[in-house]
Amino acid sequence: MADIIATSNLCRYFETGSEVVKALQKVNITVKKGSLTILRGRSGSGKTTLINILGAMDRPTEGNVFFDERDITGLTDFERDDIRRKDMGFVFQSGALIGNMSAYENVEFGLRISGFETKERKVRAIECLNMVGLGKRMNHRPGELSGGEQQRVAIARAVAHMPKIVFADEPTSALDTTMGIQVVKIFRDLVQNHGLTVVMTTHDPSMMEIADQVYTLRDGETVNE
Ligand SMILES: Nc1ncnc2c1ncn2[C@@H]1O[C@H](COP(=O)(O)OP(=O)(O)OP(=O)(O)O)[C@@H](O)[C@H]1O
Ligand SMILES: [Mg+2]
Repeated sequence: MADIIATSNLCRYFETGSEVVKALQKVNITVKKGSLTILRGRSGSGKTTLINILGAMDRPTEGNVFFDERDITGLTDFERDDIRRKDMGFVFQSGALIGNMSAYENVEFGLRISGFETKERKVRAIECLNMVGLGKRMNHRPGELSGGEQQRVAIARAVAHMPKIVFADEPTSALDTTMGIQVVKIFRDLVQNHGLTVVMTTHDPSMMEIADQVYTLRDGETVNE
């Protein structure tokens, strides 16, 4: 399978006053289409910085990011917004769902933003909620769902517009281990049975075996373990 993501000597430096934090140093990673990749490492090792750059939310200080074989590093903000909206999906640490909307409405609303037509929105929203095992909870609001269920709604929303890749920064850190593993298994299923590509960060060592590939970061560099 071809690479959907590749980086070339990615560096990200943050200047704070007189100090420069080297959050990423010469990071070279690749992600194959249809795979589940985990980025791991201690707090402050650069996971979020890396996923933000891969997801075109931030730019590297040096180096390049290739998405679907195209160098996206130097594209305009507008072009990058477009790629993010159409080809990428995002899941954050905790839900970020709209509280007064049902699970169904949350997913449907995301599709509206992506420009899907009414009929298709309905079909896709129901299909994706079924995919994450929440068909029966479709009309519940986030407050009426468990933390794990809320994350599954967030996953349904992130995949509904059929992105080429989904990024998830610590999607399980607000959950207990059992629920966390449930959420990661949903990702596994989407990769295995629906051809999705997922890149996620985690601290949790029990998640590693479920990944096709694991990159470990230490002080902004990838290390072999
Ligand atoms: N906007 C910023 N300005 C200055 N320093 C930053 C900024 N963002 C991140 N850093 C620094 O870069 C390093 C990497 O941060 P990052 O958030 O990527 O770590 P992380 O691996 O995601 O950690 P955690 O597991 O705690 O989420 C840290 O030393 C952090 O303090
Ligand atoms: Mg982080």
